[in-house]
Amino acid sequence: MKPISIITKVLQYDKIEDIDKPDQELVLEARKACENAYAPYSRFKVGAAVRLDDGTIVLGSNIENAAFPSGICAERSALYAAASNYPLNKPVTIAIAAMKDKIFTSEPVTPCGNCRQVIAEETVRNGIQLKVILSGKSNIFIVEEGSDLLPLQFNGNILSSTLP
Ligand code: THU
Repeated sequence: MKPISIITKVLQYDKIEDIDKPDQELVLEARKACENAYAPYSRFKVGAAVRLDDGTIVLGSNIENAAFPSGICAERSALYAAASNYPLNKPVTIAIAAMKDKIFTSEPVTPCGNCRQVIAEETVRNGIQLKVILSGKSNIFIVEEGSDLLPLQFNGNILSSTLP
């Protein structure tokens, strides 16, 4: 037996002014995207803003459904919108924000497992890092390599690794 430690490096900031200007801008866009959420069931409105390698910003919001599993998170809305509308551009940064009953969360929103899997796939298929900014009003986490959010993730290498 050999224990393996897996480390995820997270940079923590106390306020938005402490992060780089382009990242600040992306957080503000993610906050704006919260307004477009359709979240009548949870009243938890999430917004995501993806910056592409040419500077284009694509927004996504959570869209819920009376059949709960049919809803989708903001992160996947944004990443899939980016991939569908800008297939030639790669996502380089995604910022996420959320509000409950019109008040932004003070703590960073942390993506669900499905979204972490999708973030991981984006980094694999594009072959570049995808920076993830998890924003709260009084606390911001930045993960430089988004796929680090999901250690031991399932990926295409495993699919094609069956023994002969
Ligand atoms: N949600 C997101 O959009 N992103 C997250 O990172 C966490 C959760 C949504 C899903 C659902 O519409 C609502 O927030 C409550 O879970």
